[in-house]
Amino acid sequence: MKFSVLTIFPEMVNAFAQYGIIRRAVESGRIAVDAIDIRDFAEGRHRVTDDRPYGGGSGMVMKPEPLAKAIESARRENPESPTILLTPQGRPFDQQTAESLARCKGLVFVCGRYEGIDERICESYIDEEISIGDYVLTGGELAAMVIIDAVTRLVPGTLGNEASAASDTFSDDLLEHAHYTRPPIFENNAIPEVLLSGNHSAIEAWRLESSLIRTFLKRPDLMETRRLDHREKEILKKWMRHLETLIGG
Ligand code: ADE
Repeated sequence: MKFSVLTIFPEMVNAFAQYGIIRRAVESGRIAVDAIDIRDFAEGRHRVTDDRPYGGGSGMVMKPEPLAKAIESARRENPESPTILLTPQGRPFDQQTAESLARCKGLVFVCGRYEGIDERICESYIDEEISIGDYVLTGGELAAMVIIDAVTRLVPGTLGNEASAASDTFSDDLLEHAHYTRPPIFENNAIPEVLLSGNHSAIEAWRLESSLIRTFLKRPDLMETRRLDHREKEILKKWMRHLETLIGG
């Protein structure tokens, strides 16, 4: 999977690619992160990439010519990769979008700065607009890195343990269960005993219960659209009985 990131701050992206799982994925050749400096495609001694907006107003707009050239160059290198603009006006990014992007051969990201990019680039060069949330960043670079991070961990082999992506929070619309490691007692707080039992089916049942209760408490919106299977209904009924005992007593 090749990620090309068009930016006026390529060093931000290069630094990101030097740590942790992303670095290992690059080193093993599973992904490539190519930061392309839009300024390299700008004309003139000063290589200007922005200009004042037509019609007046505050802020600057990214000029179309350097962007068009940079996108064309990235596309020549990745002919089958969609071109994605990072913008707060885009489609909200989520795990499902990460999964569908992970099936692409590559992705070309266009990172806007200032007030945004010339609209004619959006019309003629951009395949998809994506937002990472309802807030405004100073540029698209962090958003591109968020997406690269989420997509990379779905590329086979990058996590080392394939099971961990499958059990992820959101992969089946539930939050992930609680995790514990040594020591078994920390500040007088012991881990759930079942995790020491060696009984794998009991541990699996505990994890499902932990997932359900966390989702119910932290993200009840996720439960609203989800169909519960028989085991999950039984767990919820058990809580109902507990609650009824508490309320009744
Ligand atoms: N650029 C600025 N804000 C952004 C956001 N929320 N998502 C994606 N790109 C952005």
